Amino acid sequence: MKITLTGASGFLGGRLVSRLMDQGHTLHILGRSRPKGAVSFSPWNAVKEEPPREALEGAEAVIHLAGEPVAQRWTPEVKERIRTSRVNGTNALVKVLGSLPVRPKVLIAASAIGFYGERGDDLCTEATTPGTGFLPEVCVEWEKSAEAARAFGIRVVLIRIGIVLGPNGGALEKMLPPFRMGVGGVIGDGRQWMSWIHVDDVVGLMLHALENQSLQGPVNATAPRPVRNSELTKALGRVLHRPTIFPVPTLALRVLYGEMAQIVLASQRVEPIVAQRSGYVFRYADLLPALQDLLGPQTR
Ligand SMILES: NC(=O)c1ccc[n+]([C@@H]2O[C@H](COP(=O)([O-])OP(=O)(O)OC[C@H]3O[C@@H](n4cnc5c(N)ncnc54)[C@H](OP(=O)(O)O)[C@@H]3O)[C@@H](O)[C@H]2O)c1
Repeated sequence: MKITLTGASGFLGGRLVSRLMDQGHTLHILGRSRPKGAVSFSPWNAVKEEPPREALEGAEAVIHLAGEPVAQRWTPEVKERIRTSRVNGTNALVKVLGSLPVRPKVLIAASAIGFYGERGDDLCTEATTPGTGFLPEVCVEWEKSAEAARAFGIRVVLIRIGIVLGPNGGALEKMLPPFRMGVGGVIGDGRQWMSWIHVDDVVGLMLHALENQSLQGPVNATAPRPVRNSELTKALGRVLHRPTIFPVPTLALRVLYGEMAQIVLASQRVEPIVAQRSGYVFRYADLLPALQDLLGPQTR
């Protein structure tokens, strides 16, 4: 299949590109700088401009992951980039898709479980209404921009991605240093639900969405068994053989990260109902085997 991708240089994009290439797909990458290797590429800055038409002509599928990183201190400028790189970028992409005489069959667009905001112990499915605050507002606008492609006859799948556990980046890379030094511990009171997913399942779900023509709309990309932060902490200590007795106080996080601290403090107990009903079988449904795969003795 001919597939155009954005955000291909990122933590998820890199893994996805390898899998798609292994499967023999023909890829064209849109991004701010040329990736290594011989893959075909067109420059695009999602904040500033429309993507070049020729990068999208002939594509049978588009996978859109680009967006300013969220896990950084939210100054007013950073918040603006987080929003515009997603909302303006997706609007511009969809506008060009709509102008093509032959359009791709499917647009797979990244979104995030940040859509749900703070939910305590409530279960969140794809039918749950959005939360309140900066991240839910961005996610609502971001999804709306992608969904506009439906008016052009394009199947749109919105992948609401959870906390991705994978090597070389993402949440684990940020969480691990204190645990490795033996000073890891729960965050806040440790009761907040963390809806994690192994990176292989995020990629697996995107491939499933490419092939499964009945799938459309929001799809929660989270493992079927989310855990409380205290359970994640215990599992990390167990896999790394380190103590986990040093809690991180909520106040310290708020001082260190400001408003962004909410991404580790918010409680989101998400269920991947659409993925499971559509026949997707998670490779890692439970946390411990996922962590053992990523951090077991051979990878530590
Ligand atoms: N990883 C997670 O746990 C997680 C969770 C929920 C949602 N998501 C969403 O999934 C998508 C991919 O995640 P990821 O972890 O792979 O992200 P990432 O490593 O930060 O990569 C995102 C890509 O977006 C492009 N980008 C970054 N800043 C940009 C800006 N200011 N303007 C335009 N493009 C920009 C970059 O591509 P180029 O440099 O090639 O242009 C970058 O490689 C993101 O939209 C993210 O919000 C991820």
